[in-house]
Amino acid sequence: MVANLNFNGVTRRVVMQAPKNGFFYVLEAATGKLISADPFVPVNWASHVDIETGRPVENPAARYDRTGEVAFVTPTGAGAHNWRPMSFSPKTGLVYFGSRHSAQAYIADADFTPSSVGTNTGVSRALTPAQQADMAAREDLQFEDRGALMGWDPVGRGPVWRVLDPQNAIDGGTLATGGDLVFAGGGQGEFIAYRADNGDRLWTFSAQTGVAAGPISYAIDGEQYIAVAAGRGLQPYYQPNHSRLLAFKIGGSAALPPAAEYSPPELNPPPNTASAEVVTRGAAVYGQNCVQCHGNRIGTFPDLRTSASLANAELFNAIVLDGALTANGMVSFAAALSREDADAARAYIITLANEAKDAETAAAAIAAQNAADADAPHTE
Ligand code: HEC
Repeated sequence: MVANLNFNGVTRRVVMQAPKNGFFYVLEAATGKLISADPFVPVNWASHVDIETGRPVENPAARYDRTGEVAFVTPTGAGAHNWRPMSFSPKTGLVYFGSRHSAQAYIADADFTPSSVGTNTGVSRALTPAQQADMAAREDLQFEDRGALMGWDPVGRGPVWRVLDPQNAIDGGTLATGGDLVFAGGGQGEFIAYRADNGDRLWTFSAQTGVAAGPISYAIDGEQYIAVAAGRGLQPYYQPNHSRLLAFKIGGSAALPPAAEYSPPELNPPPNTASAEVVTRGAAVYGQNCVQCHGNRIGTFPDLRTSASLANAELFNAIVLDGALTANGMVSFAAALSREDADAARAYIITLANEAKDAETAAAAIAAQNAADADAPHTE
């Protein structure tokens, strides 16, 4: 983003970006010379950016390919801020964007060979239980929220306000208006107007679908409109989407038609009958080929723990090996996986599903016990 900034009375034309790597950059537009680069989320892969060279000063431990050790890195490839458009208000001098917290364990895959399907980064996702425990114990990688919408001061080099984002609700593109508002949507289907100077929430519209795009402002016959393309779906994956161009004006009276009815699938896994070795192999297969799309627990794509195909090996393999859902974006993995690999992946997902089911049952039992305790007559 290009803008004129006022540095102690001196106006400089700058280029600004909040990239995936977690540092907010301000560069002189005419020369590309670095003016500042400051972390806007916790960053541990580099200590800082060298102002003279413009290069990040890396933490050697982050070079997992050289150390041979696991590196716990934040932010990850998901990005501290991704492509969602930022905005700048010349009135407040602030830049508005949503940040994201993320952490991942990176370890070089010693047996890496490129494959025609799956991910080819040479990173192994198969952590040992000890490495998983190490990661869980790292306090610097526990985040209280998913990120924040920020009003960032590029001259003062820090946030003036932050609206915490517990649920991935406000990471959409932003628009700052001359009326001192900031509009932004998010993954939970809300389109929101904030005060540009302090982040107070002033107005909320329920869009029935995630709002990721950057909003726009325009005028017709002197009347101002705000419009945004909505429709990235909500979790879970099979929930109906409502893709629309939404346009707003002061006094506008249109209402959305009712959202389509939907009830999410329930956890109903078959019992786990596979050996521990098979489940471990399945974890490696899943980590290498499936996790990027289907997630660890909750991902963008279907949560496989609720899949009916868990109880049906033929159906599961028709999808995973024969490509029965290719037209929908789930290709065959036959080039990389044997039938045994696919069976092992299914056994691993069944294990995850049973763990989740047990946790659900335990939580329900505790809730029932609490309700019974509350109803029980109290004695002195
Ligand atoms: C590039 C993304 C991607 C990867 C990688 C991927 N999948 Fe999928 N998968 C999808 C999508 C998209 C769907 C949903 C297709 C649809 O809408 O019918 C899906 C659906 C499925 C389903 C059916 C889900 C249901 O609701 O019953 C199964 C089973 C499945 N995938 C297994 C796997 C396994 C096992 C792996 C790893 C070997 C894998 N997938 C890797 C994208 C992916």
